Amino acid sequence: MANDCEMSSMKIKKTILIFATLLLTSSGTFAAKMAMPVDVPASYETECASCHMAYPPALLSEQSWKNVMSGLSKHFGTDAGVDAKTQIEITNWLVKNATTRQKYIETAPENRITKTSWFIRKHDEVKPDVWKRASIKSPANCGACHIDAAKGIFSESKIKIPLK
Ligand code: HEC
Ligand code: HEC
Repeated sequence: MANDCEMSSMKIKKTILIFATLLLTSSGTFAAKMAMPVDVPASYETECASCHMAYPPALLSEQSWKNVMSGLSKHFGTDAGVDAKTQIEITNWLVKNATTRQKYIETAPENRITKTSWFIRKHDEVKPDVWKRASIKSPANCGACHIDAAKGIFSESKIKIPLK
């Protein structure tokens, strides 16, 4: 009897341990997942993914997206302007899906994900010369290192820094 009891309490402890581990790992990877919402409008893919990847909206705050979308005619040295209807459609969708997490909510300097303090902190181990490699060229080129960036997955296990 006593043995049975010990056995089952051990089993319970083991189960609790497994659950705790699962919880920990899932909250750990949560930060690294910024999945593209399923309701992404076609216009976002056509208008915002021709020069760079379609950045998942959860990478920036509501205010930052408004700032990006109100300056499209002068967009990082290029004209990314869209017609008024499309602009409203994309802006509304970006704002609706912008980050709500305190960690990522700052207004991005120069409207850049890559200038936010969380981005700089997460990438402090990447040496300056690495960003300049021919197949990377810019920190904004997420997909050069994050192989599933287009799906909004940025976890450590999905990183491969190209050597050249
Ligand atoms: C004509 C080309 C072009 C189009 C179209 C375009 N962009 Fe860009 N975008 C750029 C360039 C160039 C940069 C700067 C990239 C770099 O520094 O490597 C940039 C950078 C960005 C950044 C900042 C990246 C960083 O450094 O963190 C955001 C956000 C962004 N674009 C959003 C958009 C959105 C939203 C749209 C659609 C409305 C769009 N872009 C359409 C050319 C374009
Ligand atoms: C030169 C390669 C490179 C580029 C380009 C790059 N990253 Fe990273 N990224 C890394 C490395 C290395 C880490 C650190 C991984 C670690 O230690 O957890 C990282 C970490 C991250 C993390 C944190 C992941 C976690 O598990 O907490 C996020 C989010 C992220 N990057 C997003 C981006 C976004 C968005 C872009 C583009 C705007 C980008 N990265 C561009 C290499 C890169």
